[in-house]
Amino acid sequence: MIDAQTEVFGIIGNPVRHSLSPAMHNAAFRALELNAVYLAFSVENLPAAVEGIRSLAVRGVNVTIPHKIAIQKLLDEMDLTAVALGSVNTVLNRQGTLVGYNTDWIGAVGALEEVTAISGKRCALLGAGGAARAVAYGLANAGGDVVVINRTEEKGRRLARQMGCGFAPLKALPDLRADILVNATSVGMEPRAEECPVPPEWLRPGMVVMDAVYAPPRTKLLQEAEARGCRVVEGLRWLVRQGAESFAIWFGTRPPEDVMERACRESMLRAHQDAPHRAAKER
Ligand code: ATR
Repeated sequence: MIDAQTEVFGIIGNPVRHSLSPAMHNAAFRALELNAVYLAFSVENLPAAVEGIRSLAVRGVNVTIPHKIAIQKLLDEMDLTAVALGSVNTVLNRQGTLVGYNTDWIGAVGALEEVTAISGKRCALLGAGGAARAVAYGLANAGGDVVVINRTEEKGRRLARQMGCGFAPLKALPDLRADILVNATSVGMEPRAEECPVPPEWLRPGMVVMDAVYAPPRTKLLQEAEARGCRVVEGLRWLVRQGAESFAIWFGTRPPEDVMERACRESMLRAHQDAPHRAAKER
């Protein structure tokens, strides 16, 4: 029941109409009977939106493309890991003080750690954009031995240098051995779901393979990996883990992740029925 006490949360970005976060967080609010609502705000003027958060006392927001970097200078305080990453995906409004956090990296690490330890493992990380940056930071901090692999070499080298990781060009992939593979590129995302970011024959039994892509939930990469005896972690798991970490920052308690994951799957199914070829991307 929405009333005068209802607390407002949301996601700010552009585009945001495809976001799974409203379904995910509202499901958790309902399950815990919190008097709160989570909305999607399509934002072009970021300074005005941040002023709106302050003046309307919005309790917390997630931040997505294209505002994750620019929002930093509009906030009052930054969590140290958000500073290290140079990117904010979660804002807490602490009685008028806006504090920036990043839960992307801890979501990625948490999702992986559900199936494997990371310390001492050889980790191949595909990509050098924002998602890859969060994974590189998370894996390196968890003690992984990380090699960044990226189509545009200079971008990959830069990320590797900044995060203290190794770098390898795409063409060197066949000679690489890895215990963990993380795809942080958009390869395999709907509507090009038939694409796989690595040659399937490179995958070895026992490897752990995680995909940042969650639409479709079982990507071509994960299907190929599973068929070759790898353990797989869906991008949806990562999405839910980062959402759960944001929730924990806002409320100081952990949300029901199973409820959140179910809400995401149902929302994706509904979206698919409405517009089967629409691409989805968020994190
Ligand atoms: P995000 O913020 O979600 O990480 P991004 O910054 O656009 O998104 O980064 C996308 C990543 O996917 C990049 O590393 C990109 O490689 P380039 O740096 O060479 O552009 C990678 N990528 C996208 N399409 C790709 C493709 N078809 N093959 C290989 N890499 C691809």
